[in-house]
Amino acid sequence: MIKHNKTLLVTGGAGFIGSNFVAYMIDKYPDYQIINIDKLTYAGNLENVSGLENHPNYEFIQGDIADQELIESIFTMYDVWGVVHFAAESHVDRSIEDAAAFIHTNILGTQVLLQTAKMDWERKGELSQRRFHHISTDEVYGSLGEDGMFSENTPYDPRNPYSASKAGANLLVKSFGYTYGMNIVITSSSNNYGPRQHEEKLIPTIIFNALAGNPIPIYGDGKNIRDWLYVMDHCKAIDLIFHQAEAGEIFNIGGRSEKMNIEVVKTICGILDEMESGRLAEINKNSFTELISFTKDRLGHDRRYAVDDSKLRQKLGWRAEEELKNGLIKTVEWYVKRWKSLAESH
Ligand SMILES: NC(=O)c1ccc[n+]([C@@H]2O[C@H](COP(=O)([O-])OP(=O)(O)OC[C@H]3O[C@@H](n4cnc5c(N)ncnc54)[C@H](O)[C@@H]3O)[C@@H](O)[C@H]2O)c1
Repeated sequence: MIKHNKTLLVTGGAGFIGSNFVAYMIDKYPDYQIINIDKLTYAGNLENVSGLENHPNYEFIQGDIADQELIESIFTMYDVWGVVHFAAESHVDRSIEDAAAFIHTNILGTQVLLQTAKMDWERKGELSQRRFHHISTDEVYGSLGEDGMFSENTPYDPRNPYSASKAGANLLVKSFGYTYGMNIVITSSSNNYGPRQHEEKLIPTIIFNALAGNPIPIYGDGKNIRDWLYVMDHCKAIDLIFHQAEAGEIFNIGGRSEKMNIEVVKTICGILDEMESGRLAEINKNSFTELISFTKDRLGHDRRYAVDDSKLRQKLGWRAEEELKNGLIKTVEWYVKRWKSLAESH
């Protein structure tokens, strides 16, 4: 039997960032056990963690983080040393349609995890040693004008039900730190991109529509600005913060890669023009940019997000390594492969 040094409970590990994180951690820490709990909503996909099924350091549990009984049974069954909490309803557009699932998972689910971890760790006399790492977003800070960046001290000002539910969860996590002395950390990152993201999000949407020869929809004038962070850079930052931050600390994680949506779309189209010239001929276009189509803007569409990650850079020496164009090339390669394999299976 393997003697595990630490057991980590990762929530939402069949989703985009969680699955990249699970793979990264299994590879980097051969003496850790990773328990992945995921409800497998429409956004979760076991293919994201395929290959790990029989790994001796990995367990998958399908279930809801808001199911108190289930979460308690996991803490009874395993000696959970730390929680890295990714599970969430994550798509802004869906939250605008109906926020109920967002409140259930992002707020109630977070409370159940906090409460259960607190009880278990208190019983073991290790409430201040074991760690609860909550994964959050820069969207909690609201929207920026042309200048400035969000710092860790920027007051929360969420503008849509998704970011409101994430801000609510952040406050709950903080309160468990203040009230009970629980060892919590919160990280708020900018927009992630990379392999294994659900097809409803901007970058996969661009690539899949382009390859299918369908219009590439862009909200409004396409001039909304986001900061882009390669998912593996995010995973490395989480690893560092999880292991080295002081209890109660909050860190912003950014890519220092601000771009208008339309610039990202044009860059991806340029990459595809070179990579998939055969497909371009098949759909009778000279460039995938010809498919760009502006659509009615999203309600409450935040204009600009940018995070100041100086604290993380200075305190823990982290910086995003992946340059945007390079990261996009790797991402496009991954989605082209996926698109082709999906096309073959139909
Ligand atoms: N994607 C980004 O750009 C970004 C940026 C900043 C922060 N975040 C945060 O990072 C985390 C992960 O985001 P993502 O993009 O990987 O999301 P995702 O939607 O790809 O994955 C979420 C995962 O959570 C699971 N899940 C949903 N409800 C659940 C529940 N009740 N119980 C158990 N599992 C449940 C889903 O099945 C899915 O596998 C989220 O907390 C999100 O707010 C994401």
